[in-house]
Amino acid sequence: MSKYWSDLTKRLVPYVPGEQPKDKTYIKLNTNENPYPPSPRVLAAIQQAVQADLRLYPDPACQELRQAAARRFGRSERQVFIGNGSDEILAFSFAAFFTPGAPVLFPDVTYSFYKVYANLYGLPYETIALDEEFHVRLDAFHPECAGVVIPNPNAPTGKYVPVDSFRPLLEEHAEHVVILDEAYIDFGGESALKLIDDYPNLLVIQTLSKSRSLAGMRVGMAFGQEDLIEGLERVKNSFNSYTLDRMALAGAAAALEDEDYFQETCRNVIRTREWTVKQLEELGCSVIESKANFVMMTHPAIPAKRLFEELREQGILVRYFAQPRIDNYLRVSIGTDEEMKQFVDAVRKIGGII
Ligand SMILES: Cc1ncc(COP(=O)(O)O)c(C=O)c1O
Repeated sequence: MSKYWSDLTKRLVPYVPGEQPKDKTYIKLNTNENPYPPSPRVLAAIQQAVQADLRLYPDPACQELRQAAARRFGRSERQVFIGNGSDEILAFSFAAFFTPGAPVLFPDVTYSFYKVYANLYGLPYETIALDEEFHVRLDAFHPECAGVVIPNPNAPTGKYVPVDSFRPLLEEHAEHVVILDEAYIDFGGESALKLIDDYPNLLVIQTLSKSRSLAGMRVGMAFGQEDLIEGLERVKNSFNSYTLDRMALAGAAAALEDEDYFQETCRNVIRTREWTVKQLEELGCSVIESKANFVMMTHPAIPAKRLFEELREQGILVRYFAQPRIDNYLRVSIGTDEEMKQFVDAVRKIGGII
């Protein structure tokens, strides 16, 4: 705490990202990155952008990338917003759509950045408990609120809600914005993008960090009716007009255009996930059903924290959350087949020793 900090800075409770350790080479299954590289077209596009004029500011409207996203997702350009990662879009959305007073609602076990943003903007929030099997209880999101945020699939559980189930919630919350955070939607779920025309209060946020292997580049997208997108533009242009640099704009457009590569990497991740689940279940672990590029698992004999530490010792990093309800679970990102074989072997070995 410093006397120079503003009152706002004093009350912040910042997000703690997963480790990116430098001490040795780990099998990194802790931050839900894609194990495959981005499309080769991305690298070619970035190279071209580097050779172009970096003296000049990038396009503040991200027009070409918005057009590429609009084409890929069958929307109009004015229904697309681009941000520096979906985290930035979430941060802008909390400012753009939620007014202090009634609480913002999100699940109790969910992406921990939501409460950080609520805190940043002085917004009260209320968490809605998942049921015993970790399902998001859509009927518990009451309309006395400032707005709703739900990731689908949820993180860190990986549980998915079929997209048409959101209709009653969207109708009941017609006066508020409902944000569906689809960071992991490409690993087996169906996007709520098809609902946008029916619901002016729906904002769908996606990212290129996961299914397009571009966590290092920081590009996110939001889709909604035009006035929601305009709201986001107003907030963005009150912070920083140039949130994406020229390389990211060019690389992201190329990623969206390489559909075959995208489909193939998603298929590979899904196949490896299913294999991993089967192996873990054979070892007696229970695994929450996942449609994401990670799984939440619990071991029948070894407490999660201990297993986390033993795996780390063996050079395998996963994520442990010291948090009620999930403190006996580990979240394990899906790596390559070889990485997951090593992970399963390590769990087997640790189980045999302890
Ligand atoms: C549910 C969820 N939303 C959003 C993000 C942020 O993704 P990015 O800022 O890389 O687009 C993450 C990242 O892990 C996430 O798990």
